[in-house]
Amino acid sequence: MKETLLEKIRDHRATVAVIGLGYVGLPLVVAFAERGFPVIGIDVDAQKVAALNRGESYVQDIPSARLQAIRANFRATASYAALTECDAAIICVPTPLNKTRDPDVRYLIAAGESIAQYIHPDMLIVLESTTYPGTTEELLLPMLAGPAALACREVAAALYAEAIEQVVPVSSTQTAEMVKLLENTFRAVNIALVNETAIMCDKLGVDVWEVIEAAATKPYGFMKFTPGPGVGGHCIPLDPHYLSWKLKTLNYNARFIQLAGEINTDMPRYWVDKVQDALNSAGKALKGSRVLVLGVAYKKDIDDVRESPALDIIELLRGKGAQVSYHDPYVRTLTHNGRGLSTEPDLDQALAAADCVIIVTDHSIYDWANILQQAALVVDTRNVRP
Ligand SMILES: NC(=O)c1ccc[n+]([C@@H]2O[C@H](COP(=O)([O-])OP(=O)(O)OC[C@H]3O[C@@H](n4cnc5c(N)ncnc54)[C@H](O)[C@@H]3O)[C@@H](O)[C@H]2O)c1
Repeated sequence: MKETLLEKIRDHRATVAVIGLGYVGLPLVVAFAERGFPVIGIDVDAQKVAALNRGESYVQDIPSARLQAIRANFRATASYAALTECDAAIICVPTPLNKTRDPDVRYLIAAGESIAQYIHPDMLIVLESTTYPGTTEELLLPMLAGPAALACREVAAALYAEAIEQVVPVSSTQTAEMVKLLENTFRAVNIALVNETAIMCDKLGVDVWEVIEAAATKPYGFMKFTPGPGVGGHCIPLDPHYLSWKLKTLNYNARFIQLAGEINTDMPRYWVDKVQDALNSAGKALKGSRVLVLGVAYKKDIDDVRESPALDIIELLRGKGAQVSYHDPYVRTLTHNGRGLSTEPDLDQALAAADCVIIVTDHSIYDWANILQQAALVVDTRNVRP
């Protein structure tokens, strides 16, 4: 049976289901479909399914034209029954944290239970969602395991090799889960270190950016990270908590993760204090002042505001009585804690009207010389100096 499946994969005849059609799932759909595989996308969000079947993309990295080009071998559906005709199913559902910052695996469980209804022999199931080490074995395998679970690595590697440039098989699913968490934790810890370095340099009266540039000239042993307003996105603020949660169940306290989380989460507060100081030095109180937040996406040149530090900065500024507006060429509207805000339509007017501008996202499209010249006061979290 394994050989039949491998042959179908090599001939690009294997039908691939991608479950969860978001930032991860949709590019994966396109990667397999562009290589000629028949692909079925499954998502519980009927609006996304309808948009995809009209050839409309909602993910910035995937232009609609690419979806239209794969029409012949891709369709989306909300029904897991489509799995009966699939040879492989790749799970890309969300893995958020709950209110107590513990893993919320209910989407994974829902996906697993739905797959279990339609699983059939000779079928590969892959978990792509980021999650704690042990999830595949402890959570999914009991729901899904067939007699040939041991052949999965070989078949999974063969499938991905047809669509992905480099495949790196490791010895177990637990190792693979840990690899992803190490990557993200490495970034979270190093960003926290450089954020704390920025605070220390500020207290010492030293330019942190000059320090980093000079340190980065060392030919080995130093990897450049840059400070900023905090961390955002679906991965870095959340994924390390999956790891620390798992370790807590083993009576181990993951101290680096804890500390990095604290430092990165505190950065918006640090920058709001800087806004307050800047206004103060101009003889103004933060309360009642007009503060323009420039860029709200969590990193430059994207439209994603998930976990963006801009959200905390806006909230903190509002909490201190500032009149907050924002400008972002990629984010038309913003809803946070039940309150909505729209981007300022005219940047020049918004700059002229603001008592202070805080630069949060350094989108490439911005003309920094012009912005720095027009703004009355600037607090720059990204070092945009031209
Ligand atoms: N965003 C990234 O850059 C990134 C990178 C690497 C890994 N990841 C991981 O990949 C996973 C998915 O992340 P994402 O950013 O694509 O999330 P997303 O929210 O953009 O997309 C997830 C999709 O899953 C759908 N969904 C939810 N429950 C479902 C169910 N039971 N059945 C079918 N569909 C369901 C949602 O409607 C949504 O469309 C997460 O575990 C994340 O940590 C994300």
